Amino acid sequence: MISPPDEILRVQDLTVEFPTEDGVVHAVRGVSYSLHEREVLGIVGESGSGKSVSSLAVMGLLPRGARVRGRILYRGDDLLTLSTRRRRGLRGRNIAMVFQDPMSALNPVHPIGDQLAEAVLAHGLVPRKQALARAKEMLDLVGIPQAEARLRSYPHEFSGGMRQRAMIAMAVINNPDVIIADEPTTALDVTVQAQILEKLLEVKDAVNAAIVLITHDLGVVAGIAHRVLVMYAGKPVEIGDTDTIFYRPRMPYTAGLLGSMPSLETSGGGRLRPIGGAPPSLINLPPGCPFSPRCPLADGACHSEEPGLAEAGEGGHYTACHHWDQLAAVADPTALFRTESEGVR
Ligand SMILES: Nc1ncnc2c1ncn2[C@@H]1O[C@H](COP(=O)(O)OP(=O)(O)O)[C@@H](O)[C@H]1O
Ligand code: SF4
Ligand SMILES: [Mg+2]
Repeated sequence: MISPPDEILRVQDLTVEFPTEDGVVHAVRGVSYSLHEREVLGIVGESGSGKSVSSLAVMGLLPRGARVRGRILYRGDDLLTLSTRRRRGLRGRNIAMVFQDPMSALNPVHPIGDQLAEAVLAHGLVPRKQALARAKEMLDLVGIPQAEARLRSYPHEFSGGMRQRAMIAMAVINNPDVIIADEPTTALDVTVQAQILEKLLEVKDAVNAAIVLITHDLGVVAGIAHRVLVMYAGKPVEIGDTDTIFYRPRMPYTAGLLGSMPSLETSGGGRLRPIGGAPPSLINLPPGCPFSPRCPLADGACHSEEPGLAEAGEGGHYTACHHWDQLAAVADPTALFRTESEGVR
């Protein structure tokens, strides 16, 4: 199969289920997206919306017992039907991952330099000395001072921010063309977050990779992502250019996320308005739109029929909402979630 020249990754109708004692968890219920060379795609949604599970599926890192369907095309090859050997070859070399917790990827009992060198040696026949030189080069690239000496440090000798830098170094050491970064800065304090994000982007450009940037915080993707995919209850509910998502959301859930963004609030001087209620159980999903119990626009149709993703007026902008056009008519969609005491609606 031939893909368009600049498309690296295409996820098609991905579903992931976990059979458990309590029933089947429908963690990912039909996720589709494409990623182009050097693109930054943000995947955003509250905790539990299926962001991590869908990216673990792309990496081939789901736990045993997970049921996966759909297609994950990397440059036209379906990762779900590739041999384990070829898939392992791709993982870490062509597609690499940065996790929220660097300690899940770094081994506490080996020096950082050895771990970085191992990542090189796992994918290529190069002398160890050359692998270590590459490790030093990568520590330099991610902004770790005295890289040569730091090769001999252990992960616990690094601060949280430095560990995250080391993990970014590990992710890009084999020049991947896709980096999946899952909440890469969530565990860090705010000032360090900004530095790490900036470094991640710099490094991505240095190796010419594309990024899938996963976060529960829309603020993180602002000014960084080219496109944003919003997930809710295991499904994409809105996808579009970043500006479109921020300035012309057509799904009430996206509007709610925008209204609860701390960065918008602090600059506007207002207070934070989290969306009331909680996401539904992914074992027993209620009928209709999964967001209907929390949605100010919900009506009868919303409670009985789950909307599919459909074009919302402009090219490349898709939303899963029966009433997206109502949202289009509202000047400030985030106002939907303001209570009457705040003087709106
Ligand atoms: N191994 C597992 N077994 C059962 N359920 C799981 C497993 N891993 C994740 N889940 C469930 O799948 C859903 C999606 O999880 P996840 O992708 O981690 O969410 P997010 O990354 O968006 O916070 C959650 O309800 C979570 O509890
Ligand atoms: S379909 Fe209905 S309940 Fe769901 S987001 Fe749209 S208006 Fe709200
Ligand atoms: Mg997650």
